[in-house]
Amino acid sequence: MAELDKKEEFASELLNEESLDNIHHVNNPVLDVPAVEKKYLGKATSYLKDGNKFIFTDGKASVEIKVFSDEIIRVRLAPQSSFLDDFSYAIKKDLDLHPISFVLEETEEAYLVKTSVVTCRIQKEDFLVSFENTYGKVINADHKPMHWEENVDFGGYYVYCTKRTAPDEAFFGLGDKSSNLNLRGRRFSNWNSDTYGFGFNQDPLYKTVPFYIGVTEGDAYGIFFDNTFKTYFDFASERNDRTSYWSEGGEMQYYYIHGPQMMEVVKHYHELTGTHFMPPLWAIGYHQCRWSYYPEANVREVATQFRKRQIPCDAIYLDIDYMDGYRCFTWNKRYFPDPKKMIADLAADGFKTVVMIDPGIKVDEDYWVFKEGKENRYFCRRGDDYFMEGYVWPGRCQFPDYTNPKVREWWGTLYRGLVEDGVAGVWNDMNEPAVFGRGTFPGDVRHYYEGFRGSHRKAHNIYGMQMVRSTYDGLKKLQRNKRPFTITRAAYAGTQRYSSVWTGDNIATWEHLRIGTLQLQRLSVSGLSFCGTDIGGFTGEPDGELYTRWMQFGVFSPFMRVHSAGDTRDREPWSFGPEWEAICKKFIELRYKLLPYIYSTFWRQHKYKEPILRPIALIEQHKAQNLLREEEFAFGHHILVSPVLHPGQQSKIVYLPEGNWYGYFDNILYAGGTEHQVDTPLDEMPIFIRGGSVIPEYPVMQYTGEKNIDALRLNIYYNEGRQDSDIYIDHGDTFAYEQSVYNEKHFIVEGKKDGLTVTQNQEGLYNERFDTYKIYFIGLPFAVNKIEVDGVIINTSMDEDNSPYFAVEKEFRKLTIE
Ligand code: GLC
Repeated sequence: MAELDKKEEFASELLNEESLDNIHHVNNPVLDVPAVEKKYLGKATSYLKDGNKFIFTDGKASVEIKVFSDEIIRVRLAPQSSFLDDFSYAIKKDLDLHPISFVLEETEEAYLVKTSVVTCRIQKEDFLVSFENTYGKVINADHKPMHWEENVDFGGYYVYCTKRTAPDEAFFGLGDKSSNLNLRGRRFSNWNSDTYGFGFNQDPLYKTVPFYIGVTEGDAYGIFFDNTFKTYFDFASERNDRTSYWSEGGEMQYYYIHGPQMMEVVKHYHELTGTHFMPPLWAIGYHQCRWSYYPEANVREVATQFRKRQIPCDAIYLDIDYMDGYRCFTWNKRYFPDPKKMIADLAADGFKTVVMIDPGIKVDEDYWVFKEGKENRYFCRRGDDYFMEGYVWPGRCQFPDYTNPKVREWWGTLYRGLVEDGVAGVWNDMNEPAVFGRGTFPGDVRHYYEGFRGSHRKAHNIYGMQMVRSTYDGLKKLQRNKRPFTITRAAYAGTQRYSSVWTGDNIATWEHLRIGTLQLQRLSVSGLSFCGTDIGGFTGEPDGELYTRWMQFGVFSPFMRVHSAGDTRDREPWSFGPEWEAICKKFIELRYKLLPYIYSTFWRQHKYKEPILRPIALIEQHKAQNLLREEEFAFGHHILVSPVLHPGQQSKIVYLPEGNWYGYFDNILYAGGTEHQVDTPLDEMPIFIRGGSVIPEYPVMQYTGEKNIDALRLNIYYNEGRQDSDIYIDHGDTFAYEQSVYNEKHFIVEGKKDGLTVTQNQEGLYNERFDTYKIYFIGLPFAVNKIEVDGVIINTSMDEDNSPYFAVEKEFRKLTIE
């Protein structure tokens, strides 16, 4: 009886809580189907063990608890005890996870699945699932048992999970949401959508990453709800003491990821979903785009101006107008009579050409791509077998079903012509998928879904990911194992294995500059570190100041590209007059100086699974105020920035994490762990270097690889105590790094009051061209008497600006300065 009361209480609560906008079915009045009720797990009565899986049951429904590693435990619910196929597009294939140890203990009240760091408790009485650390502190717990509701229209279930929420709990992650960093107090949905000119808090947007990080009392954990249907997350919005997530179909299937550090949670999330491969070096240079540069003379003129004005640039983009009637994989020969020649000339001048490819294929019997797709039945079909047709740029279109490996293989080969023409990178757009007028495909469209089959309701959120996956695979083969460069607008969790991303059609306003800083920080902790905004704003007109401030932020965006809509005025770095041009040039040059640092940060992402952009909350989660800071963030471990987000701003308050920090432009020393008021003249933005860091710098180049580096500059920032830095170098283009053809240098800097020691060790098989380092010391609090390298005393040298440096063999092991 008590159990029944409890269930009724749950049911009535739920009716309040979830009756409004999150119940999406209607009972079919024609068939007169009885009202569907929510069903809850009952009492957990028994279990079975199968390897690292435990299956608990209440007699009817089952819950599987699978131990992936000591920190990662997956929970699945099967309302009728038959689990769905264990397949996920998000989880990487070669998963290399094993728990070190785990045991199941049974007490009178509960089953306990224990690893070395976390205990998953399954309460017998009510089937509540919770996670505790080894001190018995509950980190995350069900508020009510997992529940479900039959979907009478489509079959399957709406599935729900509701967690208790602590008063101080903060939430991060969830991909490209345009809200404040801390998601608490808001409800979100995930349904990839073409959202031209989106606004602050508008939801959903282009991407789906159903992964969040909770932080409470200094402890962080992650929840990855791996479900591709439309999903919802309510972070203590409906009710202050609970957080719910649910879906319109599929399985309640989530991974609990143990921290307690937020950084660890993100790393473990990357263990499941993978990281971005090392991008080609040119892909992290500055990129110039607009809708569209055409005809050819226009493209050439833009390129010429960059070189004439000596503003570095590595890539120029061709938007849809390069195509013949927007037919993918064709050229408009009137605008581009000899694309191969144009691309070769651009390449000779150091420019890579990136082109747009959309999923909509024009219905045209004289167009080879359409004919091949049609003959091979590669296009998506409706529930009753009609073709899925919709209007996009080319007019009436059909759409490949990228969830079929054969279709992906075919699509990958279509790039052959473009690659032969010399195209270096591909930009996949409109792949939410977007359809004019109706938004996207209707729900009944069928997909192959890797042989597991599903309607568009299930495949919608992974459509774009599978498109760019096929682009990536195709390019990798066609470019003979060179690292592909791809960028996509739509994404699902795990897309980082195939592509970079951008945040879509933003607006040229100060508010959007701010939204961009939030989105990129959030994407980064959601696994999509290689991300950028349309610098300057896609639609609308920025003035010189906004454009320039956005360019400054762009230097610290992992992906740095200016892009704008077809109806906007010019957007090249010189378009706003000489004053702004000079500042933009200075900052683009800064990007090129910092390239070896930026590249090393990409390596830390790829290999060590660390996000590139790091919100303050990720750096110092133990301070409650930090969970609300969102204007300053770190790029990698050593550089912290705070973009200027308001017109006319003369100064701003910046919080610096604990430790010592140096102003990048003036080398002034700041104590961390507190806020500082810093000046923000137009030609500067607040950039700080962590004390003890070794920051490598390249000389300014007009494009990556323009100059050979004879000696690598290292800026070493004095600090008392120890600090570690890494520099990663390889030849910048192939996958040879997978066979250890790279050089990873580890530096340990240890400062004392009257001296500093730098030790170096290296790993990898790559031998870079330069032989020496030019070492500059910054902030030494003592007069230099002696510098000794591996037992030999060396002299000071002077550079062309009369600054002292030390020329040191790159193989050095130990350097002491006193
Ligand atoms: C979409 C893209 C935008 C592109 C335009 C034309 O709006 O988001 O970047 O320029 O389509 O292809």
